[in-house]
Amino acid sequence: MIPRALRQLAGDSASGAPVVVEGGSPGHVRVESTDLINMASNDYLGLARHPRVVAAAGDAIRRWGLGTASTRPLSGTTGLHRRLEQRLADWSGTDDAVLFGSCWTANAAVFEMLAELSNRVGATLAVFSDQLNHASIIDAIRAQRATLSHLSRYERGSEASLRDGLAGQPATAVKVIVTDGVFSMEGDQADLATLVKLADEHDALLVVDDSHGLGVVGTTGRGTAEAQGVLCSVDVVTGTLGKALGGASGGFVATTSDLSAWLRTGSRPFVFSNNPSVPVVAGALAALDILSDDSEPLATLRSRTDQLRRGVAGLGLPSVSGDHPIVPVIIGDDDAAREVSRSLRRLGVFATALTFPIVARGAARLRLQASAAHTVEDIDRVLDALDRACAQRGMLPARARNSAPADASSRFDDGSGS
Ligand SMILES: Cc1ncc(COP(=O)(O)O)c(C=O)c1O
Repeated sequence: MIPRALRQLAGDSASGAPVVVEGGSPGHVRVESTDLINMASNDYLGLARHPRVVAAAGDAIRRWGLGTASTRPLSGTTGLHRRLEQRLADWSGTDDAVLFGSCWTANAAVFEMLAELSNRVGATLAVFSDQLNHASIIDAIRAQRATLSHLSRYERGSEASLRDGLAGQPATAVKVIVTDGVFSMEGDQADLATLVKLADEHDALLVVDDSHGLGVVGTTGRGTAEAQGVLCSVDVVTGTLGKALGGASGGFVATTSDLSAWLRTGSRPFVFSNNPSVPVVAGALAALDILSDDSEPLATLRSRTDQLRRGVAGLGLPSVSGDHPIVPVIIGDDDAAREVSRSLRRLGVFATALTFPIVARGAARLRLQASAAHTVEDIDRVLDALDRACAQRGMLPARARNSAPADASSRFDDGSGS
C-alpha cells in the first residue's frame, strides 16, 4: 500500500508523463495520429532506423536471441560485446573499453572505482566538476560522498581558480577533473585542451562524458577530444549508445587496460547488472561501421545543423553559438516555453520545453536538435513554425531572455537533463 503521505505527490507527478509515440519515419514521430518533425531526438546521424543498423540488429537477434539472460561475469560474454568494446576503445583513443547497461551506470561505475581505489591506497579523493555537468555525473559523485575529501564545482572560463584548487590539494590526493564533452542543454564544448594541460600539470585524472560529442563532433566524429586535437590524451571517456550510435541504450567507459580490468572485476554495476542486449550491441557496431566508411550521415548532419543555426539566428531568437546540432532557443519563463512547445506541436513540430529543474530558473528553453534524418524542407518547416509560434504567443525575439542561466548553480543541486 502506498502511504497516504505519498499519494498526493504521485498524483501530481502523473501530469508530467512522457508523450506516447505511435511510430514514425526517419526524423519524424507520430503522436495522436499526427506526423510531427522530431526535433527532440538525439538520433543525430539518423542511424536508429538506418537499414544497415536494423539489419545487423535483426541478424544478431536471430543468432543469439535477445541476450545471455544474466550478467557477463556469470554467463559469459558474446564476441559481439568484446568487439564493440574494442571498437569503442579505438574510437575514443584509449587502450580498452567496458560496456555498461547505460552511460548513467558507466559514470556511477567510474566514481565508485575512483573512491574504492583511493580507499585502498589510503589516499584522499578530490573532485573538480564542471557546474553544468550532466545529472548522472552529479549523482555518481554524490554516491561517493563518504570518501570525498574535496568537491568543487567550477565555472567554465575560470581555469585560474581550477588551477588554484588543484594546486591546493596534498600531493598524495587522487585528483579528478570531470566534465561533459558537449553540454547537453547548451550544445557547447568543454575546453578539453586546457583541461588536459591542467590535469598533466597537477597529476590529475581527466574524465570526460562525451555522450553528445561521440559520432557528432570532430573531423571523423570521434568526439570532443578529436575536435580539440587531444584525442588519446583523455584518461577516461564515458559515453552512451543511446544517441548518435544507434539510439537504443547502453553505455561504456573507455580507458587504460588496468582501469578497464578493474571495472570488469570490481565494478558493482558491471558485476551485478546486465549489459546492453545483443541486438543493441550489433546495431552500435553497425553504426560505428557506417561512421567509418560512409561520410554522408555526418556531412548531412553538419549541413542541417548549419541551416537550423542560421535560421534561428535569422529569426533573432536568443540561442547559444557553436556548431553542435543542439540548438537551444532560450525563452526564459517556464510557462512561456511550454506554450511555445504546444504551439509548435500544433504546427507539426515536436520540440520539448526544458524547464526548471532540468535547467536553472529563468532559463527555460526549447532544445531543437538537428539530425541527418531531416530534410532541408523539414528544417525550413521547423523555422517557419518557430517564427509563427513565437509571433502567436507575442514572444517577439526582443522580449526573450538572455541565454545565460540565471542561477546556474541550481543545475548541480537539482540535476541537469539529457
Ligand atoms: C551527458 C550525458 N551523460 C549521460 C547520459 C545518460 O545516458 P544513458 O541514457 O545511456 O544512461 C546522458 C543522456 O541523457 C547524457 O546526455
